[in-house]
Amino acid sequence: MTPAEPPVAVVTGGSRGLGQHIVESFLARGYRVSTSSRTQTDFTSQMLQDHPDRFHWTEVDLEQGDAAKSLVRSVVARFGRIDVLVNNAGYLHQELLLTTPRRQVDSLVAVNLVAPILVAQACARAMTASGGGRILNVSSINAVRGHRGVSVYSAAKAGLDGFTRSLARELGPMNILVNSVVPGYFDSDMTSGVTPENRTRIERRTPLQRLGTVEEVVAVVDFLTSPAASFITGQTLVIDGGLTC
Ligand SMILES: NC(=O)c1ccc[n+]([C@@H]2O[C@H](COP(=O)([O-])OP(=O)(O)OC[C@H]3O[C@@H](n4cnc5c(N)ncnc54)[C@H](OP(=O)(O)O)[C@@H]3O)[C@@H](O)[C@H]2O)c1
Repeated sequence: MTPAEPPVAVVTGGSRGLGQHIVESFLARGYRVSTSSRTQTDFTSQMLQDHPDRFHWTEVDLEQGDAAKSLVRSVVARFGRIDVLVNNAGYLHQELLLTTPRRQVDSLVAVNLVAPILVAQACARAMTASGGGRILNVSSINAVRGHRGVSVYSAAKAGLDGFTRSLARELGPMNILVNSVVPGYFDSDMTSGVTPENRTRIERRTPLQRLGTVEEVVAVVDFLTSPAASFITGQTLVIDGGLTC
């Protein structure tokens, strides 16, 4: 990287929700940013217009087997390197396990666990070529505490935390730091279906008595991808207002 070339961050699922805010933050920090999703949004269209040299969007369905490889290949072709990966894309489907069809189980595991593993693998290969990097996996408090109706999603997210710890051991000698963030509930499309009664119950059980904000999660993403966090790897950092303490 020449001094004129800003570092490159890959953020999966940056078209809306938490991912959108993470993309905005990396752009504000001077990064070149690549994001991906199945569909364009007003946000991605606007970023393509506002930052034609620093913003890249790829249409990808992470449920498809070769998505990770083609995604990372397109980023390297566009920007030449990868410094940071935030495995943010994910989706929640709530259903009791006894009625959940096999294809739904496969889909939840494919998007929330297999895809982040394969994207991390492809990005880590690119990072070794440029002397190191940071990988941050977005997990969930469902990985830490049991909740009815989300067993498969919880299994996938808990798998992501286990993956984080072991991968940190493998990649540490290559100067690639691997951590995961574990957000509690925050407002986004994913939680728009939470009923007012459930919302009140979550708020009551949270020591800080409220849901989190995306800004509070982004602040931790910023920290863990900053020089200040240069000796932190293999960790899962919970951001939930104390809900799981
Ligand atoms: N919201 C919460 O309270 C909460 C709490 C804990 C953890 N999390 C985690 O935080 C992350 C972001 O959540 P969010 O609430 O911001 O979600 P969101 O608003 O639903 O956004 C999800 C993003 O992932 C993309 N995505 C979903 N499925 C995809 C697929 N098959 N292929 C490619 N991209 C896909 C979506 O784009 P397309 O739909 O266009 O593909 C979108 O950009 C997720 O990993 C989630 O599990 C959320």
